[in-house]
Amino acid sequence: MKLLEALPPDGKDRGLALSLDPQRIPAHIAIIMDGNGRWAKRRGLPRFAGHRAGVQMVRSVVEDCSRLGVHALTLYAFSAENWKRPRPEVDMLWRLLRFYLRHELEDLQRNNIRLQSSGRVEALPQRVYEELRAVERATARNTGMCLNLAINYSSRNELVDAVNALVDQARIEGRLDSLVVDEEMISKRLYTAGLPEPDLLIRTSGEMRISNFLLWQIAYAELYVTDTLWPDFNREELLRAILEFQRRERRFGGIAETVTEPADLTVAADFPDEETEEIAVSSQ
Ligand code: IPE
Ligand code: IPE
Ligand code: MG
Repeated sequence: MKLLEALPPDGKDRGLALSLDPQRIPAHIAIIMDGNGRWAKRRGLPRFAGHRAGVQMVRSVVEDCSRLGVHALTLYAFSAENWKRPRPEVDMLWRLLRFYLRHELEDLQRNNIRLQSSGRVEALPQRVYEELRAVERATARNTGMCLNLAINYSSRNELVDAVNALVDQARIEGRLDSLVVDEEMISKRLYTAGLPEPDLLIRTSGEMRISNFLLWQIAYAELYVTDTLWPDFNREELLRAILEFQRRERRFGGIAETVTEPADLTVAADFPDEETEEIAVSSQ
C-alpha cells in the first residue's frame, strides 16, 4: 500500500491506514460529494467558497485512493438535475472544473491515473467539454487508477442511452424484431462499462438518498453515509469509511459462510414431500 510511504510515522492517519486490510481495499469507490453549500453557509461565506474548498478535497481523495490501490474512483461532480441551480453557481462550477483539469493533469500523469467521464458531457459548455476530452486523451494510456468523473450525469439518462444504443444497433443490423435484452448487454453499454461495480458508495453531508446516481451499478454496493460535509472529508474520513466497509459482511443474497448448520437440513428432511409441493404450487 503506497499510502503508508506518504504518511508521517506517528500520525493518526498512519494508525488508521495500518489497521486496514490491504487485501480488502474496495476495487471501486463511488462518492456523492455533497455539502459544499452548507459548509460555506456555516462560515458565512458564499456557496462558491464551499465549491472551491470541495475541489481541494477532490485532489487529496484522488491521490489517497490511488495510493491505496483502488482501481476506480467515481466522483459525482454535477448531476443532470444540477442545471436547476442559479446560472452564476452553474457557471462557477464549470470554471472550477476547468481549473481542476488544468492543474491536475500533471498530478494525474505522475500518479499514472486515467481520467474518464460519465454523463451527457457533450452538453457542457464547449470549452469545458474540449478540455475534458483533452485530459481524457492525454491520460488514456495510464494503467493505474481510473478516475471517473460523473458530470451532467443522471442514472436514468444513462439507462435510457444504453437501451437506445442497443435498439439503434439492432436496427442497423436488421434484427430489431428479434431483439431480446439481457443484463450483460445493458451493463456493457453503460458509461461505466469496463469498470468493476462499486463496492463502496459514500455520501457526505448526511442525506439519506441516492440522487439519481449509479442506480444499476450499486445493486450490491455497501452504503456509507457520513454527516461530514464534503470540504471536510479528509484522509482520516476516507480511511474510516474504508475501515467500516471492511467490517461489513457482504452476502450478495447468499448466507454467511460460517452458517452451515446440519440442523437446518434435518428440519428440511422433516417436511413431507407433498407439503413442500403444496408450498411450491401456492407460491406460484
Ligand atoms: C455538492 O454540494 C456539490 C454539487 C452538487 C455540485 P452542494 O452544492 O449540493 O451543497 P449543499 O447540499 O447545498 O450543502
Ligand atoms: C448530488 O447532490 C449531486 C452531486 C453531488 C453532484 P445534490 O445536492 O444535487 O442532491 P440533492 O438535490 O440533495 O438530492
Ligand atoms: Mg447538495
